[in-house]
Amino acid sequence: MARIPVAVATWRFGKEAVEDAARVLRGGGNALDAVEAGIRVVEADPNVDTVGLGGAPNSEGVVELDAALMDGATCRAGAVAALRDILHPISVARKVMEETSHVLLAGEGALRFALEQGFRRQDLTTEKSRRKWREWKQARCHDTIGLVVLDGDGNLAAGCSTSGWAYKLPGRVGDSPIVGAGLYADNEVGAAAATGRGEDIMRYCSCFLVVEYMRQGLPPQEACLAVLRRIYEREGGKVQLCLIALDKEGRYGTAGMKKGFPYAVHLEGRSLLLEAPYLVETRG
Ligand code: GLY
Repeated sequence: MARIPVAVATWRFGKEAVEDAARVLRGGGNALDAVEAGIRVVEADPNVDTVGLGGAPNSEGVVELDAALMDGATCRAGAVAALRDILHPISVARKVMEETSHVLLAGEGALRFALEQGFRRQDLTTEKSRRKWREWKQARCHDTIGLVVLDGDGNLAAGCSTSGWAYKLPGRVGDSPIVGAGLYADNEVGAAAATGRGEDIMRYCSCFLVVEYMRQGLPPQEACLAVLRRIYEREGGKVQLCLIALDKEGRYGTAGMKKGFPYAVHLEGRSLLLEAPYLVETRG
C-alpha cells in the first residue's frame, strides 16, 4: 500500500540526515538507500564529533567506528564494529549485508573487507578531535546518528553510525552495530533506533523491544516510553538514552530517559527539529 514517506533521526545533526534521506526517496531510492545516504552525510561532517570523520577517538587516540543498517522488508542486516580508517562505516555495513553471509564484521577483519570492497583508507582524526583527545574530556557523550525511514512503498529501514564512547578502551563495541540493541526494522510493524550509552541500551535489547511493543499495539511514542520505563525500573535515573520509532503507518515517536534530546523529522516536504519528550524530570 502506498505510504507518505517519513524520516526520523536523532540529534540536531539528524536534520542533515533526514533531509538527505528525503532527497534520495524523491529520486526513487528506497528506505534502505535513504538510511544509508542520510547517515553518510553525518559521517562525512567533521563538525559532528561523535560520528565518522572527526569522531572522538579511543583511549589510544584511534577512531574506531560502529555502524549498522537493517532492511525491514527482509529483516536482513549488516554491521561493522571497531572499524578503523574508513569514512563511511554505514556503507561497509551495507556491503556486509549484501556481499557476505554474515551480519557483523569487527576490527581488523572489517577493515580488510572494506579495503577489498574498494573503500579508501584515511585518517579520521581532525585537528579538533586530536586536541580534544589530548585534553581528554572524559565526560563526553555518545551521540549516535540513528535514522529510521519509511518509503512510499511501505518499506522500513533503520541505521546508525557512531564513534562510540569517547576515549573508550580499544575494541569496545557499543549498541550501534548490534541488531535489536541500537536498531531494528520489520516491515510488518515498524523501526527503531537508539542513542545514548551503548552498554545500557544493549543490555535491554532496546530497539527490538520498542518494535515488539509496537507489535503489541502501542503507538511509537508509547512504545519508546514503555522501554524506558522497563530500564528505569532496574537502573533508576542514572541511565541516559533516547529512542526513536516509526511504525508502518508512518506514525513516529521518540522519548528520552531525561531531558536534552533533540531529534529531526522529515515529513511531507518539511524538516522539523524538535525536543524529545522524556521520562524522568532531571536534565541528563
Ligand atoms: N550509542 C553509541 C555507543 O554507546 O557507542
